[in-house]
Amino acid sequence: MAGHTDNEIVINAPMDLVWDMTNDIESWPTLFSEYAAAEIVERDGDTIRFRLSMHPDENGTVWSWVSERTPDAETRTVRSRRVETGVFEYMNLFWEYEQVDGGVKMRWKQDFTMKPGAPLDDEGMTARLNRNTAVQMERIKRIVEEAAERAAGGVRFDHTGRRVLVTGGTRGIGRGIVLAFARAGASVVTCYRNEGPAVDSLVKALSETPGDHKVIKADVGVEAEIERLVEACREHLGTIDVIVNNAGSISHVPFDKLPADEWRRVLDVNLTGTFLVVQKSLPILSPGASIINIGSKVATVGIPLRSHYTASKAGLLGLTRSLCKELGPKGYRVNLVAPGPIETEEEVSPEVRARYEKLTAVGRLGVTADIAGPVLFLASDMAAFITGETINVDGGI
Ligand SMILES: NC(=O)c1ccc[n+]([C@@H]2O[C@H](COP(=O)([O-])OP(=O)(O)OC[C@H]3O[C@@H](n4cnc5c(N)ncnc54)[C@H](OP(=O)(O)O)[C@@H]3O)[C@@H](O)[C@H]2O)c1
Repeated sequence: MAGHTDNEIVINAPMDLVWDMTNDIESWPTLFSEYAAAEIVERDGDTIRFRLSMHPDENGTVWSWVSERTPDAETRTVRSRRVETGVFEYMNLFWEYEQVDGGVKMRWKQDFTMKPGAPLDDEGMTARLNRNTAVQMERIKRIVEEAAERAAGGVRFDHTGRRVLVTGGTRGIGRGIVLAFARAGASVVTCYRNEGPAVDSLVKALSETPGDHKVIKADVGVEAEIERLVEACREHLGTIDVIVNNAGSISHVPFDKLPADEWRRVLDVNLTGTFLVVQKSLPILSPGASIINIGSKVATVGIPLRSHYTASKAGLLGLTRSLCKELGPKGYRVNLVAPGPIETEEEVSPEVRARYEKLTAVGRLGVTADIAGPVLFLASDMAAFITGETINVDGGI
């Protein structure tokens, strides 16, 4: 039977960094412990041909061969094969990268058969590759995570012991924020509207993260449910140090056809929900609490078919400014984070992706970690003199 390996590891670093570092072949001698040299032989479109040389083995032999790789940044996959097959009849490799809770899952698959007379048969080589892959993956994880930490200025926000309420935390940006706070040491209460796999997987991810977390079904478009949510925070957390008003609703309707009910529904969730969450939490807000509202860059730009959405998000700007003045003397800070296009679990069509990649200065859509970072900063003591501020997180649109 042919040889096959399938290994994976989760790297706690932004997707772009994981992708760029692990596809930078010239740096492989640093990234992998087994390679002494990596030399690019030829580039043909997206395909790269390169020679790898290993450190001398126990007999002093230096194994070296030419391989070929075609990375596809769009699908975050890489197809690769050995051109000089050596002891293999053939060796095909497939790498894939996926954004998961806790970072980027990097998965490598290898398919091969050994030549007759090779020092190892298919089974022996499978076992050897599996042993070595685990070692290399652990090393790569450490190197990339250290680079991510350096890229973040060496600072990992520490929210140990903080009590945090995030609305709408089961999917998308809210989920990224919930998990980032939990990983930073906080205890988090979050809410959602609809049961489903996203709820189950968040509950599981939080159960594997230190802290005392709770995931509650509560619609922030309904006042009684907000009361229930805040009551759950009181019971579960006692007091609240950070509120992130993230839950948001959107629809795409021409203005002349926009039903008043739909206008009210979107404003109820995005604007009135935020007002009520903050107002009802006041009795349990701890001194120095930080409130962060998630707005949208389009509120100050405008966009067709979303007049209700942009009005609600622009409303958050006014609410943030007024609350910073009114709640400042009590020691509370209130800020707004205004995301640009952020990739979530929602499918993005190639056309939409291409349009946004052109629009942003950095040439890509944002990821949820791009919003969680500024939110954790605003919640930290490093932002102690920042209030009433809007941080646009839009890749430079
Ligand atoms: N993604 C972007 O590009 C982008 C850009 C600018 C601003 N934003 C803003 O960022 C926030 C998050 O957006 P997203 O794209 O991450 O959204 P998303 O993927 O649709 O996720 C929304 C989350 O909020 C929950 N939620 C929605 N309505 C709720 C309600 N009435 N009560 C309680 N929970 C509710 C959802 O739970 P269920 O699954 O149970 O509904 C889900 O967990 C929103 O305020 C949005 O306006 C997003």
